[in-house]
Amino acid sequence: MGYENVLVEIDAPIATVTLNRPKVLNALSPDLIRELTAALADLDADETVRAVVLTGGPKVFAAGADIGDMADRSAVEQLSRDQTGRWISLAGFSKPLIAAVNGYALGGGCEVMLMCDLVVAGETARLGQPEINLGIIPGAGGTQRWPRTAGKYAAMEVMLSGAPVTAERAYELGIVNKVVPAEMTIEVAKRLARQLAEKPPLAVRMAKEAVLKAFESPLSEGLASERKSFYFLFASEDQKEGMHAFLEKRKGVFKGR
Ligand code: CAA
Repeated sequence: MGYENVLVEIDAPIATVTLNRPKVLNALSPDLIRELTAALADLDADETVRAVVLTGGPKVFAAGADIGDMADRSAVEQLSRDQTGRWISLAGFSKPLIAAVNGYALGGGCEVMLMCDLVVAGETARLGQPEINLGIIPGAGGTQRWPRTAGKYAAMEVMLSGAPVTAERAYELGIVNKVVPAEMTIEVAKRLARQLAEKPPLAVRMAKEAVLKAFESPLSEGLASERKSFYFLFASEDQKEGMHAFLEKRKGVFKGR
């Protein structure tokens, strides 16, 4: 299916989704979000794709929700169209989702980044939640995912000041995995995606689910769920292949079965 606001490139076993509203710094309009969630749903269902890179291209990741679209909305309109609630489906993507961030990742742009599993940032990237300057607060998870990842005080600084942090500071806070020269960001993220695409897909899916569960449940529940997934994977062909390949001193070939 063709989209206007996102570009999808499949180079199996990976795919790259590029936000595509460069004139407004990839501001996240309702149409863009609709297309992004639809594109990701297609890629989740595509068995040839095992990992996805999400980027805004070489200059900017996304400067947040589309302010022009929101400025004159009423609270009731915002509630009934549930603008930010729709984005949450990104967090349910079952395969590794790697953000490749150049330039600004602000507001909803930063929140989309926080829904990804790994983040590669260019050294000129700037990440933040400037909503406070508009008389609002983040509405797509920023106030919850920042403290769970970077801790209370960094989260407070970012939320209350509205000032963005540099890529280097984000790395120190554990919000990004790697900082690389800006011209390398997308390539490094693709390389990472290809490495993850070689891993057994069912185990990757369950590892991702288990880590995300740690944010949502008490330790005992998370451990019980982890144990069930661990046992369940012994029902997979990939577990037999992985262990026998190790014993036979060869590289495993995984089918996601
Ligand atoms: N919405 C709509 N348009 C936006 C936008 C946004 N979030 N961010 C940038 N643009 C537009 C600008 O209006 C401008 O359009 P024109 O050329 O037609 O004037 C174009 O993109 C280029 O932007 P600038 O000229 O401002 O570029 P700059 O390099 O001088 O500044 C910037 C870059 C610091 C990112 C600045 O654009 C900016 O502050 N943007 C807004 C950031 C923001 O407040 N984001 C939070 C939005 S609210 C939100 O996201 C809520 C939520 O949690 C869901």
